[in-house]
Amino acid sequence: MQLPIRPRRNRKSAAIRALVRETVLSPGDFVQPLFLQEGTQNDAIASMPGVTRWCEADVVREACQIFAAGVPAVVLFPKIDDALKTSDAAECYHDQGLIPRVIRAIKSACPQLCVITDIALDPYNADGHDGLVRAQANGEMVILNDETVEILCRQALCHAAAGADIVSPSDMMDGRVAALRDALDHAGHEQVSILSYSAKYASAYYGPFRGALDSAPKAGDKKTYQMDYANAREAVREILLDEQEGADMIMVKPAGAYLDIIAKVREHSTLPVAAYQVSGEYLMIESAAAAGWLDRKAIILESLTAIKRAGADIILTYYAKEVAKWLRDS
Ligand code: PBG
Repeated sequence: MQLPIRPRRNRKSAAIRALVRETVLSPGDFVQPLFLQEGTQNDAIASMPGVTRWCEADVVREACQIFAAGVPAVVLFPKIDDALKTSDAAECYHDQGLIPRVIRAIKSACPQLCVITDIALDPYNADGHDGLVRAQANGEMVILNDETVEILCRQALCHAAAGADIVSPSDMMDGRVAALRDALDHAGHEQVSILSYSAKYASAYYGPFRGALDSAPKAGDKKTYQMDYANAREAVREILLDEQEGADMIMVKPAGAYLDIIAKVREHSTLPVAAYQVSGEYLMIESAAAAGWLDRKAIILESLTAIKRAGADIILTYYAKEVAKWLRDS
């Protein structure tokens, strides 16, 4: 064949493939989510095999190991005792609560590790929603926007005072980024960053996470605040708003089934883009691998590379520590 152009020449050896590779994962790309609980015991999470819910003392050691593996950041999610869940979610800004205690403990043991906290009411709310809930006369449940934003500000101030480096609103209320920025600045926390879950979809992929924290909504769903997964332009609208409101970084969530959204958001914003490989994505990989149907390591690396190739600068993944070690050993 007379064929002057042969793309396969650029794939002919591992060495050449390494030279022409466009997307390379590194430990510095990752954020490790950590689940927390009260007490002195660690528990396996039934809905997320292989993931642990840590007690305060042991999560500090785990956080130091994550940093030692080269992962620069963790994001904290608490399982709150039922007795502390109320319809005003007041435990979320209690300065001796689980999250502020763990922030202080991690920052004193490993000050260079970036600590990110989740800003939303669901773990603390007796109703299981990210915002305050009010029942209407007709029985319909309404998620209150502006009242919720006030509580979110108190939650963020509590985390900032404890030493959080980044607060990360995952609640999807309108106007929360501007309100958080204003509250943080007025309290002297102008160095605390905001990583906004800007394009967070109402997704069935969050199921195992809600099992991990016992935080599923008691009634209704999250579709009046989280986005409709049929929409892409709306994600651009959300990220541009969060950018104007002062977000330092924006997020798309879930990640694997939303690569088009990551790519689109990347084009429309100059801010760093994060993507969250969520619990359902994790569980799909783990269950297929456990059944012997997929090559676990290969699938994990391919799924994360695809998320980065789509345009994510930062990847939140339950595999952060494990993959960071693979990358270092390879
Ligand atoms: C809560 C929150 C959720 C996740 C992160 N923060 C669940 C939800 O919105 O219902 C999901 C993460 C995952 O599934 O791994 N605000």
